[in-house]
Amino acid sequence: MKLLIVNGPNLNMLGIREPDLYGKQDYAALEAYCRDVCQKAGCSCEIFQSNYEGELVGKIQEAYGQMDGIVINPAAYTHTSVAILDALKAVGLPAVEVHLTDVNEREEFRKISYAGMACEKTFAGFGFEGYKKAIEYLVEKERS
Ligand code: DQA
Repeated sequence: MKLLIVNGPNLNMLGIREPDLYGKQDYAALEAYCRDVCQKAGCSCEIFQSNYEGELVGKIQEAYGQMDGIVINPAAYTHTSVAILDALKAVGLPAVEVHLTDVNEREEFRKISYAGMACEKTFAGFGFEGYKKAIEYLVEKERS
């Protein structure tokens, strides 16, 4: 089983960016965490981060026929991007949305998630562990 893990804008600034909200661990630590979880769960993964909407759309499209599922934290594009929603719908792969913070407990504009409309589940507010929950959900689903 192969998962695509996609991270959107400013997640590369983890550790520097608003540490009270997003924690002190950096983006490299998040990637290492995800690789470790995937290894333990018995799946392989490709991890991709971009600050550009079109690159995120392109990477989701590339997953078609290549990957078995998508874990996505579209970051700010969560709340704005119909293009990412449409890309997820286009490839039709099981997808799970992740947010480090609990977006429902923040500003009103963060309560809308376009990408989430194409996702089977959302894990928000669990920090890095949300990625673990998402990976394990997709692996369990594939095995059942
Ligand atoms: C985020 C939440 C988004 O609202 C925000 O724009 C981000 C990160 C999160 O992981 O909590 O960049 O997706």
